[in-house]
Amino acid sequence: MVSHAQVTLDRSAVVAPVPRRLFGSFVEHLGRCVYDGLYEPSHPDADADGFRRDVIALVKELGVTTVRYPGGNFVSGYRWEDGIGPRETRPVRRDLAWHSLESNQVGIDEFARWCAATGSELMMAVNLGTRGIAEALDLLEYANQPAGTALSDLRAANGAVEPYDIRMWCLGNEMDGPWQLGHLTAEEYGALAARTASAMKMADKDLELVVCGSSGSAMPTFGEWERVVLERAYDHVDYISCHAYYQERGGDLGSFLASSIDMQFFIDTVTTTADQVKRRRRSSKTIDVSFDEWNIWYLDEHQSLTDVSDTWEFAPHLLEDVYSVADAVVLGNLLITLLGNTDRVTSASLAQLVNVIAPVRTEPGGIAWRQTTFFPFATTSRLARGVVLRPTITCATYETAVYGDAAVVDAVATLDEESGSAAVFLVNRSLTEPIVATIDARSLGVSAIRETAMLHDADPNATNSPADPARVALRPNPSASVEDGLLTVTLPPVSWTAVALTLGD
Ligand code: AHR
Repeated sequence: MVSHAQVTLDRSAVVAPVPRRLFGSFVEHLGRCVYDGLYEPSHPDADADGFRRDVIALVKELGVTTVRYPGGNFVSGYRWEDGIGPRETRPVRRDLAWHSLESNQVGIDEFARWCAATGSELMMAVNLGTRGIAEALDLLEYANQPAGTALSDLRAANGAVEPYDIRMWCLGNEMDGPWQLGHLTAEEYGALAARTASAMKMADKDLELVVCGSSGSAMPTFGEWERVVLERAYDHVDYISCHAYYQERGGDLGSFLASSIDMQFFIDTVTTTADQVKRRRRSSKTIDVSFDEWNIWYLDEHQSLTDVSDTWEFAPHLLEDVYSVADAVVLGNLLITLLGNTDRVTSASLAQLVNVIAPVRTEPGGIAWRQTTFFPFATTSRLARGVVLRPTITCATYETAVYGDAAVVDAVATLDEESGSAAVFLVNRSLTEPIVATIDARSLGVSAIRETAMLHDADPNATNSPADPARVALRPNPSASVEDGLLTVTLPPVSWTAVALTLGD
């Protein structure tokens, strides 16, 4: 049976400009993300810094705009000074968060150079787990002060005369989580974040500071954490973070495909709470969301984060999830939701980037390849330009165990007047039915289809692997046609499709 969906685009239904920081990612000193991932000095394709050129090329192709660094849970025990200066004198430390050894061969200076090589903006997190205001200020001085102070001169002596001018700073990581080193109550964290933020802004009032929100919408403190933290830190911060990971549980693909319903609930709850605090404080400032960890993560299949073994290894294989076509369809849908909320979500980071729950995988000494999730991210980052348009969607629903009724189709559009182009991103969440979507794009003055890209496979469990790295790839969607501004496209079951359009005569 073929079902139908009606999507109407209205050029005046603008959500917000597409914030380029929406296509950020995240690099943590965790498992083989940094070491034996983006950094492998013995690899035949390594550059002078030891960074793999093949990985840099894939990161560029992915269209990553900002990179959050160096954690994650790792940052809550990190001493940033360990990672500067001559490499041979850098100490080996235990990383308690991931029960690993840290060689410190990559630190802020190397990572800033890697960001420059990938064309991405560095977004830095400070340690508010085992450290505090003084160390955050020291790192800020080392990174951003032009010259003439102890730490800026030290940076210059370490090879970076020009400051890094890092704009976005995260005030710790997941401080609501009992697993976090130095975990705090909302009251304690709100007070510490406020003091740290206020001190950092005394150094540079234009910094963009992210206060920790909840580690997930299922946290017992969700909502109340945001309220209490913002009551204390509102005046000093610019963003509140959201973190969310999704997975298929118990073979319930239908619920998994509707995961973006939770992401929407998360964003709505956090922005409502932030706005209530704003009103109570009679503040003229609006706090935006930095969705700085989001992805698919088969967390249930991993060792519990607190279940540690006796071994301490450098760069162990951790969290190396292999992603399926269905996972990539969900990821594409999460991007649709992020785009649809860009009036408040102005920064986001796909967690993570290389090997660890990542779109890019590597073999030590061997190839680097694209996971299935690479494709919707890269295509959305490339095609989503201009402003986001909120579509009106009429379609069937299906019942899910987790979310109740869910629409079978989700979609969002972007319009770029400057280049005379538009793009529509759609998912079909049905497990069995193809859907013919009619997209009324007459108000945009659409004249032709420029490109289609579809992620679908007869086997939704298909994956890429080192043996078959291109088993899953994007294909055109040949069903797409446009006539008099009406676009028709057939969406196969469990699929993600992007259609790029040309405007004008
Ligand atoms: O991204 C993996 C981990 O997930 C991060 O270290 C932490 O912030 C979150 O719990």
